Amino acid sequence: MKLCVIGTGYVGLVGAAVFADWGNEVIGVDIDEAKIKKIERGIMPIYEPGLSDLVLLNVKQKRLSFTTNLKKGIQGAEIVFICVGTPQSKSGSADLSQVWQVSENIGKFMTDKIYKVIVTKSTVPVGTNEKVKQILKKFAPKSAKFDVASNPEFLREGCSVKDMQKTERTVVGTETERAMKVMRKFYEHLNMPIVECDLRSSEMIKYASNAFLATKISFINEMAQLCEKAGADVVKVAEGMGLDSRIGSKFLNAGIGYGGACFPKDVSALRRTSLDFAYDFALLQGVMRVNDVQKHYFANKIYEEFGGENLSGLTFACLGLAFKGDTDDTRESVAIKIIHLLRGRGAQVRVYDPEAMENAKRELGTSSVFFAKDKYEVLKGADAMLILTEWGEFKDMDLTKVKKLLKKPLIFDGRNLLDKKVVEANGFKYLAIGRKTGSQKQKAPDFRAAIL
Ligand SMILES: NC(=O)c1ccc[n+]([C@@H]2O[C@H](COP(=O)([O-])OP(=O)(O)OC[C@H]3O[C@@H](n4cnc5c(N)ncnc54)[C@H](O)[C@@H]3O)[C@@H](O)[C@H]2O)c1
Repeated sequence: MKLCVIGTGYVGLVGAAVFADWGNEVIGVDIDEAKIKKIERGIMPIYEPGLSDLVLLNVKQKRLSFTTNLKKGIQGAEIVFICVGTPQSKSGSADLSQVWQVSENIGKFMTDKIYKVIVTKSTVPVGTNEKVKQILKKFAPKSAKFDVASNPEFLREGCSVKDMQKTERTVVGTETERAMKVMRKFYEHLNMPIVECDLRSSEMIKYASNAFLATKISFINEMAQLCEKAGADVVKVAEGMGLDSRIGSKFLNAGIGYGGACFPKDVSALRRTSLDFAYDFALLQGVMRVNDVQKHYFANKIYEEFGGENLSGLTFACLGLAFKGDTDDTRESVAIKIIHLLRGRGAQVRVYDPEAMENAKRELGTSSVFFAKDKYEVLKGADAMLILTEWGEFKDMDLTKVKKLLKKPLIFDGRNLLDKKVVEANGFKYLAIGRKTGSQKQKAPDFRAAIL
């Protein structure tokens, strides 16, 4: 099939490459000229395992090309995927300006006679696809034949190529059987369940999924705080819970809270949607508040260990900057937020991340942060090591080397990544999330009252 993918970010670029690899003829369109030039030179603007090879292969085989010219992109396309950003607006709802802009342009340029399905892959609130259709109708020539469809994306950054190549489920919302037939044909080779529904249910499925996962994270983070006060170990609690197939073990890792370009904005947008429909989805308010508190709970451990408000004269070695492991994405990264909190109290930071250094430089500046070249250089002379992102390479640190490089054998593990027993047996003081610290019972800091 001939396809156009608009927006070549984490979703669109991966989508364009995977769809081309399925044998389709794909044009990726973006307004960002520098990004398109970079991709054309074979340099990926984002880090995703397997992406570079897949793009290069499909470009070479002439199934995949890129342009900034939307008119050229949609000419002859049977399916047009909208994959532009839907960031959080000031009110907490989704900012849909990119979607409206693209819809207007698609309408204006829909001059060929080929029936098209205009598919929104971007995460958009309920009712958006109906508005997309209205905009298309307003700007497209009367002769243009098209339908809209909602086909939300569920990929996970860090394994998005694999996720898209073999998705667990596909959700398609349409208003017409004709559009559904096109989408069925497009996905049928995957042999995976397709949830066929109306536009609004499809839009809602995406938000419901992300909000539910965020709820799981906030739940276990609250459990972590309770475990710590009650002398239980949240890692064991999560293990015990997760073996129940009704609960499942995924998204039960207590940590410093969820971040990234999706969960924070999507939970917030769903809450806004509920209020727009005069319904108070109170649970989501709790999920967001717990998530906001979690980074302070972690930072508070550091303040307590070093005796309070003022951290000047102290240096922290921060391992991890990306919002999670296996990605270079630092959007809404809790690691970065914690670094800001520490610097706000006068601390110096040395930082390292395997992939997110460039993005982090933009967020942290380069003047007073030391960007180390590896996971050991970052530790030199620091007062403590902080694990802020769950990269696999931080799991197997050489603890003898770590001890030599740090001023004190002190580790704050914001991701419960290390084996507590091993770390403590190597003579470290180990402060993690929701875990007992040796025989010593944790104090119960009452920092929440000040935040909530
Ligand atoms: N990143 C994820 O893990 C993920 C997963 C599932 C769904 N989503 C959703 O997918 C959407 C895209 O997310 P993303 O992370 O890929 O965003 P992104 O910011 O990485 O990419 C968006 C791209 O759209 C381009 N763009 C903006 N306006 C344009 C226009 N008028 N014409 C052409 N291109 C334009 C931007 O230049 C950018 O390259 C969002 O709605 C997001 O919520 C993201």
